[in-house]
Amino acid sequence: MQLPPDIERILLDEATIQRRVHELAAQISADYADVEELVLVGVLKGSFIFLADLARRLTVPHSVDFIALSSYGSRGAARSDAVRLIMDTRAPVTGKPVLIVEDIVDTGYTLQYLVRNFQARNPASLRTCTLTSKPARHEVAVQLDYLGFEIPDVWVVGYGLDYADRYRTLPYIAALKPEVYRAAAH
Ligand code: PRP
Repeated sequence: MQLPPDIERILLDEATIQRRVHELAAQISADYADVEELVLVGVLKGSFIFLADLARRLTVPHSVDFIALSSYGSRGAARSDAVRLIMDTRAPVTGKPVLIVEDIVDTGYTLQYLVRNFQARNPASLRTCTLTSKPARHEVAVQLDYLGFEIPDVWVVGYGLDYADRYRTLPYIAALKPEVYRAAAH
C-alpha cells in the first residue's frame, strides 16, 4: 500500500480497528442494557470518526453530543491548568448515564479535566471510552473504563488523530515519521 510521505508505518490497520470497535460496542451495549438512554459525549475534534463507528454499532438507545476543548500547546503538551471548555454539550447531562468518548489519552490531563468537569454535573453515572492510550506518557492517573489499544510513545495519525489537522480521515492509525514533527517543534 502506498503511504502518504509523512507516514512511517501503520500501527493499527483498518480491520484491526474495526474489530476492536465492534468488541467495545458489544461490551458497552451489554453494560448499559438496562438504561433508557446512554449519552455519548464526543470530544472534538479527534473523536469524531471513532464515535461515529462506535455509536452505529451500539444496540442500546443512545444520544450523541459533543464538547470542544482548547489547550495551550498541542497534544502531548497539555497541562492541568491549560485545558478550557470552548464548546459545551447542547443538552444537560444531569441524571443521565454519560460516556465520554476520546480518541487518545496522552498525558491524561484532558481526560482528568473532563471526568472532574462532568462529575460536577451530577450524571447518573460517568464512564470513559478511549480508542488509544499511551501508558508511557501518562502524567496523571486516569479513569479508563473502555480502552481500545495501548500504543507506544510515537506521534500517531489517522482515524481521527491528526498532525497539524491533517490525516484525520485515514482509515488506519499510523506513526508519523519522527523527522516531520521534530522539524516542526524547532
Ligand atoms: C488530543 C486528544 C485528547 C488530548 C489528549 O486532542 O483528542 O483530547 O489530545 O492529550 P492529553 O492526554 O495529553 O491531555 P488535541 O488537543 O490534539 O485536539 P484535537 O482532538 O482537536 O485534535
